[in-house]
Amino acid sequence: MMDEELILLNPGPACTSKRVKDALLRGDLCHREPEFAELLSRIREALPRALNLGGTHEALLVTGSGTAAMEMAVISSVREGRGVIIVNNGVYGDRMIKIAKAHGIPFHEVRSDWTVPADPASVRAALARHPEVDAVVCVHHETTTGLINPIKEIGEVVAGHGALFVIDAISGTAIEDQDLAEVRADVICGTANKGLHGQPGMSFILCSDRSIARIQEVPERSLYLNAASYLKGQRGGDVPFTPAVQVCYALDEALAEFEEAGGFAARTRLYRERAALVRGQFARLGLKVLVDKQFRSNTVTMLHLPESVTYDALHDELKKRGYVVYAGQGQLSKDFFRICTMGEIPWHRLEALEDALGEAIEAARG
Ligand SMILES: Cc1ncc(COP(=O)(O)O)c(C=O)c1O
Repeated sequence: MMDEELILLNPGPACTSKRVKDALLRGDLCHREPEFAELLSRIREALPRALNLGGTHEALLVTGSGTAAMEMAVISSVREGRGVIIVNNGVYGDRMIKIAKAHGIPFHEVRSDWTVPADPASVRAALARHPEVDAVVCVHHETTTGLINPIKEIGEVVAGHGALFVIDAISGTAIEDQDLAEVRADVICGTANKGLHGQPGMSFILCSDRSIARIQEVPERSLYLNAASYLKGQRGGDVPFTPAVQVCYALDEALAEFEEAGGFAARTRLYRERAALVRGQFARLGLKVLVDKQFRSNTVTMLHLPESVTYDALHDELKKRGYVVYAGQGQLSKDFFRICTMGEIPWHRLEALEDALGEAIEAARG
């Protein structure tokens, strides 16, 4: 094993800077003290600003992984007796369906192949068939395959109908080029530990005025994930339950680092440059990418496993060389693997990936 730090090339939790890790040690703090209220208010202001949504969206923070934000978003957007349209072309679209089922919320699925972006015309047709729905849900970056869905175009369709548009931008925020200010989204789910380079354990939803109004109209479907209690508490500098205080410190620091480094434009440029670098390496190594070039995200590349190489062998050989890669999910687990360039990764370590990957493939060949 090399002496350099292990580089995580999985789609979160991602590597973080020393500054963010050090922030975890700021000290013990009771969340009912004014210092926590200040911290919370700083993060609640910084999150929408970081994503160009300052002034249009309000942040609600929840202690929990990204799935907590997804669940809070869905159950807070649909009134009693109404339903939701779920756009599904991957594991996270599927998860939205599981959430609707778990809460007994009627849903209609707009399904497409895992390698094909969702079609706005299919969403329009579904809205025409089910005009009574309260919301349409779509994943921006389907981490399953590294596929980008056309959320701007789908947002236009949904706005024409009047339903709330809910997006899971968990693996896309601060990574993908699409400026969220141009997307007519009412609820945006995100997490601290992907493109924002914070620590895992906190997630958030960003809410438009329309969705804030809706939060007050929905039934209380969950005690822990009831957005109305977060809204009331957080507007007063409080949270309903014990938060992951130290993870908030780290997010606060990650957001400061993000802004100092040039904000959204600089971070998304970095992700574009990384994608170009590693995808050049994959091409030289003869690795084939599942998703067509024009639909690919800036972080996840879903690659065919080379002949006679199993995922486990490749994973272990690469780990010996300092990199952690990720398996395919669901139907793609046998023949594919994923490489994701998310988090704080020194450029020279990405440059060195080509040799490490080439060697690992040879060593893993059965
Ligand atoms: C698009 C997307 N949505 C939701 C999640 C769920 O996040 P978590 O695993 O943090 O609950 C992930 C995690 O990778 C994701 O990529």
